[in-house]
Amino acid sequence: MREWTRDERYRVLQSPDEIRDLYERIKTSVYRQTYHVQPVTGLSSDPNGFALHNGTWHLCYQWCPWGAVHGLKYWYHVKSEDLIHWQNEGIGLKPDTYYDNRGNHSGSGISKGDKLYFFYTGNHRDEDWTRTPYTCAAVLDDDGKLQKLEKPLFGPRDDHSEHQRDPKIVWNEEKQKYYIFIGAQTLDLRGCVLIYESEELLSGWKFAGELKVPGYEKFGGMWECPYIVNISGKDVLIFSPQYTKLPGRGESTNHNVYMIGKMDYDTLTFTPEGDYHYLDFGFDFYAAQGAANVGDPDKAILIAWIGLPDNHYPTEEEDWEGSMSLPRELRVVNGKLLQTPITGIESLREDEIKPGGSLPAACELEVSVPEGAFDLALFTREDGSGGLRLSYNPETKVCTLDRTGMDKRFNTNVFEVLDMPLDTPLKKLRIFADHSSVEIFANDGEATFTTHLYPTEREFHFTVTPGIEMRIWPYRASVTDEFVIE
Ligand code: FRU
Repeated sequence: MREWTRDERYRVLQSPDEIRDLYERIKTSVYRQTYHVQPVTGLSSDPNGFALHNGTWHLCYQWCPWGAVHGLKYWYHVKSEDLIHWQNEGIGLKPDTYYDNRGNHSGSGISKGDKLYFFYTGNHRDEDWTRTPYTCAAVLDDDGKLQKLEKPLFGPRDDHSEHQRDPKIVWNEEKQKYYIFIGAQTLDLRGCVLIYESEELLSGWKFAGELKVPGYEKFGGMWECPYIVNISGKDVLIFSPQYTKLPGRGESTNHNVYMIGKMDYDTLTFTPEGDYHYLDFGFDFYAAQGAANVGDPDKAILIAWIGLPDNHYPTEEEDWEGSMSLPRELRVVNGKLLQTPITGIESLREDEIKPGGSLPAACELEVSVPEGAFDLALFTREDGSGGLRLSYNPETKVCTLDRTGMDKRFNTNVFEVLDMPLDTPLKKLRIFADHSSVEIFANDGEATFTTHLYPTEREFHFTVTPGIEMRIWPYRASVTDEFVIE
């Protein structure tokens, strides 16, 4: 693993020429994705500013140009007409002011009237590296570029720690107000959310209070990337709690959870109905954000970073890392959250191939699982050994995913085997593989499992319990990977 000095990690990009060679080099990697958004160079992490505006989906990702390292963060901007085909638009936000001198950290977007607004964290650091996070805004101009407001909307509160970031903007019809949810940490190091309110998007912001979530006063040390959405009359609160281990999540201290409940803006209380849940049971899923302006009260559209903070991935050696997940549709049915792959993704299918051959690096698999125990191993060696192994126990209704058999092992100190528990017997799996990731959707969205995976040349085989109906479609590329830096 390469050691980076602070100066190297926080170097400001002066010209595209500084990363052109890096781009040309990583372009040839066998692990570059073909239907997932990925970093143009270097590292991508959280999705940011996801919104539908004038018929176009805008998305940015946290981007460090220089390599597989969390250093100076930019927003890199991509666009789509259908959430399936994406194109590179260039740099969205760059750290070029006092307020964001050490990075444009995460945030959200909202379309209002004929304008698309973005809210982000300006990560300011002094010379002694003391951090001051500012909540800042930008607006998309007629040339499709994000233009920053000169001054932040507000600075941090001094009754909380320096960890105050990731503004999520929401409009509340009843109150006729906008609210910003900020991921934060109390002075005694508990994770929480701070809420600000205003009647205007770019002015009048004042602190409303700390979000109360009864039962969750001590739950992790920082709540990153809060997101709240109403789906079919239920409020869904999603966030990424850190600095704590949670049951069934190995040694990881970074998680992405959700709760279904009721948000009361009078008392600033989110009352969960029942327990919290893992948004995804896989190894690599974090900082999920929903799109604004979806325009359907019964559906949200969510995208996440395939990756976790603090973890390391084999493409570090190639100086790049990270990917966005597929966008997924969220619905609440009978009090439960269901997550399904974005509608229309099937349009990427090429002619179906008959099981028996090898696995394409980019493909969709659909498996109908009969009653009883079931095993599937993807990206095995020719003799069926190794691979990403899924075994289902019908007694417990738990799928166990094990990646210990892969040639390229990674994050072995965090976890390599995890369970995906189901509420109902396993009947169906939809699996999306793309060069260096695998996303599994069980039983029409009852549970999901996302992981990076880096098969080597000899690992493009699979095994499945005999007699199982499995269909495989190679996938067409849908994400352009052009060098657009401006
Ligand atoms: C989550 C996060 C955010 C922050 C961003 C910085 O992964 O730590 O809280 O805004 O990444 O890249």
